[in-house]
Amino acid sequence: MSPDRTVGAVGASRPRIEGGLKVTGAARYTADVPMPGLVHGQLVTATTSRGRVRDVDASTALGMPGVLGVLDHRNAPRLNPKAGNYFGPDGSLLLLQDEVVPYAGWPVALVVAETPEQARAAAAALRVTCDAEPHDLDFDMDHPAARPASTAFGPEADTGDLEAELAACAVVVEERYRTPEESHCAMEPHASTAWWEGDHLHALDANQGAFSVSEVLAALWSIDRERVHVRSEHVGGGFGGKGVCGPQMILASMASKRFGRPVRIAMTRAQVFETTSSRPRTEQLVTIGADADGRLRAVGHRAAYALSPLAEYIEACTEQAKVLYAAPAIRTRLTAVPLDVLPPASMRGPGATPGSFALESAIDEVAERLDVDPVRLRLRNQPSVAPVSGLPFSTRRLVSCVQEGARRFGWAARDRRPRSRREGPLLIGTGMATASFSAGVFPSTASITAEVDGTFTVSVGASDIGTGARTALTAVAADALGVDAGRVRLRIGDSDLGMAWGAGGSRGTTSWSFAITEAAKELRGRLGDPARPVTATVDTSALIDFQPGRERQTFSAVFAEVAVDPATGEVRVRRLLGVFAVGRVINPLLARGQVVGGMVMGLSMALHEESVRDPRTGRLANGDFAGYHIAAHADVPDVEADFVPDYEPLDPSGFNGLGEIGTAGTAAAIANAVWHATGTRQRTLPIRLDRVL
Ligand code: MOS
Repeated sequence: MSPDRTVGAVGASRPRIEGGLKVTGAARYTADVPMPGLVHGQLVTATTSRGRVRDVDASTALGMPGVLGVLDHRNAPRLNPKAGNYFGPDGSLLLLQDEVVPYAGWPVALVVAETPEQARAAAAALRVTCDAEPHDLDFDMDHPAARPASTAFGPEADTGDLEAELAACAVVVEERYRTPEESHCAMEPHASTAWWEGDHLHALDANQGAFSVSEVLAALWSIDRERVHVRSEHVGGGFGGKGVCGPQMILASMASKRFGRPVRIAMTRAQVFETTSSRPRTEQLVTIGADADGRLRAVGHRAAYALSPLAEYIEACTEQAKVLYAAPAIRTRLTAVPLDVLPPASMRGPGATPGSFALESAIDEVAERLDVDPVRLRLRNQPSVAPVSGLPFSTRRLVSCVQEGARRFGWAARDRRPRSRREGPLLIGTGMATASFSAGVFPSTASITAEVDGTFTVSVGASDIGTGARTALTAVAADALGVDAGRVRLRIGDSDLGMAWGAGGSRGTTSWSFAITEAAKELRGRLGDPARPVTATVDTSALIDFQPGRERQTFSAVFAEVAVDPATGEVRVRRLLGVFAVGRVINPLLARGQVVGGMVMGLSMALHEESVRDPRTGRLANGDFAGYHIAAHADVPDVEADFVPDYEPLDPSGFNGLGEIGTAGTAAAIANAVWHATGTRQRTLPIRLDRVL
């Protein structure tokens, strides 16, 4: 390979490659791509939480201008009922297959017309009659339908004798924490365009992994995966909400099959809220016992979450209890409560984010009861190996995160008594939390071609949902090839590029960069005649050790300062600082942007976000941006984020994922700061005005 290996691209801050395209509007998202012969689909959704469709009267709609037809459960193409996702069969994919309505927002019909306006007008004229049946949305940890959650992510913790340790403790905190249903709120609403060429299905789709969407579509249509081609060049955010094959994609493929035209479905914002997926409600009981000198003896974390009987799902709230603290007894229990709800999906640090709110709030309560500094309490209980698995950590720079954060934040000057700081009428408080998020790698394929002009084409089925993955992977490829990044052309967002993990689970970058690094190695050994292009392709399936014998996690410490107005209950976050250990950082500029974004999501979760459902109908009362509050610019202070030096030995390049560690930890840090300001514990999110007063 060429000798211009002067500047390492990895480690350098560079703006994103497609930034210019995005800010000038030249980047085309799924619903922007022109297409000849295109027609448009408009969803019609159920307004009852449980029941059956009795009738879909399309007589008026079918006579309206531009209308091609209406799909409902009586005339829609049949799908393979065994199709599923990585948890198994998934009934939420089986749209328009029968008359059953499993939740409010479930698609019951699709109107297809020549223009989006015509489709929308005809959808409004459709008369859908449903027979409502009694629904159950009463989420409760001890609900009669509650059952143990799937242990597909690993077994529950059962270390030591929890009751015996608790009985011997000087201080025991046992508290219940609650987090609401929340919506992902990606900037780009879900959209797809589908068309068939013979028995080949083609699609443009907003998702977090084109390959996995192509697999789901192939299963639904019972065709070979190779006959499904999905492209997703630019995606305007996902946060887990675009992690599976969306309803718009499935319905567009059905409508295109039926009407023989390319069909586009661009969901409305309200449909994204009611029909895609959400973070489930959780209720968590945390029991922590400590000796008088601040040694933890027992950590119990019981968590329950709501889910739909349509599909298995794991909201792994209890993972951090297995990792963060040393204690002779650790017990976790995760409970799933099937209800008539919108099927949940991974959202912004699934499990860890609501779980961290409960665990790290409870740790703060232990510090309060012991009258010790919460930073000191945490540092006193750091484990030398993973306390439940007994495995060594591959890298654990949590203490560095805490110490560096405390130093920058000025924590040492803090008076730990609540209500000890005032500025005029405002109560000022500071709080902190630590967090971990599981890290790792999944199989992916990468292909690199050494072109005759001295450039390299790198193809990997990666997805850039706005994170900067395209830019980061270009740097990884450049260093792996030993060339300047300017000579690397990256192709992503296309299921034809081969099997690849999606942008999810904080495992996108590690999975794709591993494949790229291996393909570069392979290519180096194969370069011959410079007059002919040479290609190397590597599938990492056989190269990944899924049981590396070490605990692999990312870590963070988050510090927050709030001002609370005791007259109105208003909480404003004034300062937010996060220090992160995420392995070697590929691009500090983009990595900082990503964790700052994550912290803003955590702030938003702490203070604003809450899906509210009408108990009579189960419908969302605030399913739009008028009613569902997210942190706006004015809610966000100057956010500081940085990384401690770290290197992940289980990754060939030292990387770990940083997709979700930014979010986890922030809500607890803010809740702890609100306690410090006011003397009142906030155990239910969001921290609304009425809960502060
Ligand atoms: Mo992430 S919430 O796993 O897309």
